[in-house]
Amino acid sequence: MKFATKTIHAGQPSEPETGSLIAPIFQTSTYEQDSPGHDRGFNYSRTNNPTRARLEEVLAELENVQHAALFASGLAAENAVLQAYLRPGDEVIIPIDVYGGTYRILNRVFQPIGVVIHQIDTGNRAALEAALSTRTRLVWIETPTNPRLLVYDISEITRLVHAKGALVVVDNTFATPYFQQPFDLGADIVVHSVTKYLGGHSDTIQGAVLAKDPAVFEPIKFLQNATGAVPSPFDCWLTLRGLKTLELRMERHADNAAAIANALHSHALVRRVYFPGLPDHPGHEIAKKQMSGFGGMVSFELDGTIEEVVSFASSRRYFTLGESLGGVKALLCHPATMTHASIPAQARAELGLSDSLIRLSPGCENAADLVEDLLEGLAQVEAARTDRKAASVSAG
Ligand SMILES: Cc1ncc(COP(=O)(O)O)c(C=O)c1O
Repeated sequence: MKFATKTIHAGQPSEPETGSLIAPIFQTSTYEQDSPGHDRGFNYSRTNNPTRARLEEVLAELENVQHAALFASGLAAENAVLQAYLRPGDEVIIPIDVYGGTYRILNRVFQPIGVVIHQIDTGNRAALEAALSTRTRLVWIETPTNPRLLVYDISEITRLVHAKGALVVVDNTFATPYFQQPFDLGADIVVHSVTKYLGGHSDTIQGAVLAKDPAVFEPIKFLQNATGAVPSPFDCWLTLRGLKTLELRMERHADNAAAIANALHSHALVRRVYFPGLPDHPGHEIAKKQMSGFGGMVSFELDGTIEEVVSFASSRRYFTLGESLGGVKALLCHPATMTHASIPAQARAELGLSDSLIRLSPGCENAADLVEDLLEGLAQVEAARTDRKAASVSAG
């Protein structure tokens, strides 16, 4: 079964009792048992639910593995992996560019109980080799990263990490299984903020953990039930609905992102564009090798003052200023004050995360409209500068 067919058919047969083409929402907390301890496969909806089970099946098919567990958010999914695998004294390696919530949970929840965090350039082989030790339990990468869209070589990293006996976790939220298949490149665990492209419509919060090896998956499945951060049947149903257009949406997101990256690339007010599809992106060759497309996100640094960045970010016509990404409606985010504000300013500066960085999540709108909105915003910044200059000359 090819990818688009899986998103529509995998785990989603017509409902057997009525023939309903679309699976119903099994909005129930519990299930009748035939005799004490003998149920029909379901006994309590924290433990399992038919709507959730369908979504877990299709996500596993999309990532080419057998095992998926859904959680109430991407961070709840991350927490399950960290809780399953990290004990006091264990070490975890993360990249310099990582989602702010991942940084926060590690630094504020796991570091206080004795987990040691190494934040390094995971794309630098010597740095990775130096950071790996017998105490390394997990190497956690995003690729492309949030927010700078850095790209890391999953095969190369898994080869080095497996030689030390640690596990590689790939946050595949930005690429989605449509553009990147981390298990085929050696990853042990994949996590998703399902909230983003998989759901695709900015109307649900969910997360997922997938694994190839049943032994690696087992503690995660245990924690799903034991700690209970599960999504509602309705949220799962929304994602089942959203997933059916994943391929179509990702193609459009990627086309829109490429059009925007090209339009911003040579603009005088743009210091730098981050998009893996640009030949001058440092991860371009790796992206070509390990992804089947460059993804739907673009970030750029506006060459201006923080006031200009804020004014640009707050006044776009189609790019709504808001956290999150991956929906059909375009979103714009200022990482320093929004998604990555949980990283202290000093640490952000050390990591090279500029306050003038703007992250764009083009939706499925028309590319020309989105490009026009951004160019108009840059022209407004220029016009305001000219006005200010004229005012100061006449005042002088
Ligand atoms: C790359 C990445 N991973 C994980 C998460 C966390 O997901 P959630 O917001 O669904 O908890 C996010 C959220 O922005 C993200 O961008």
